[in-house]
Amino acid sequence: MALRDIVTDPNPTLRKKCRQVEVFDEKLGRLLDDMRETMRHADGVGLAGPQIGILRRIAVVEVDDFYIEFVNPVIVKTKGEQDGGEACLSVPEKSANVKRPYKVTVDYQDRTGKAMTVTAEGFIARAFCHEIDHLDGILFYDRAKEGRE
Ligand code: NI
Repeated sequence: MALRDIVTDPNPTLRKKCRQVEVFDEKLGRLLDDMRETMRHADGVGLAGPQIGILRRIAVVEVDDFYIEFVNPVIVKTKGEQDGGEACLSVPEKSANVKRPYKVTVDYQDRTGKAMTVTAEGFIARAFCHEIDHLDGILFYDRAKEGRE
């Protein structure tokens, strides 16, 4: 495993739409291992591909004892609403209040390509939304602005 450099705003890589992962090989596994290590080292709760310069639909989330690796994640169901503060390893020294669904269901693949589904609520649901936004070039403060309009 190796630590990867974290890309910071306003690097244009953070604004690109990521491509689907189609090859589930050892390289993908090593990449996800590196992402987990990099996230932990930076004391984050999530990390998405573009944040380490990889424009692929991959992300990791870790909240307390809960850890998950997303490959090609899609939010398929949401319920309710929550308000809360967010920050991002790629946007140092900034935080904002962001409205998110209270509960989300995500279809995704694991590192072997197996189709999976997960449902989460509260802070973990917020982290899922934040990381999946990264795969479409969206940063948390974009949504904070929307909320104020
Ligand atoms: Ni982020």
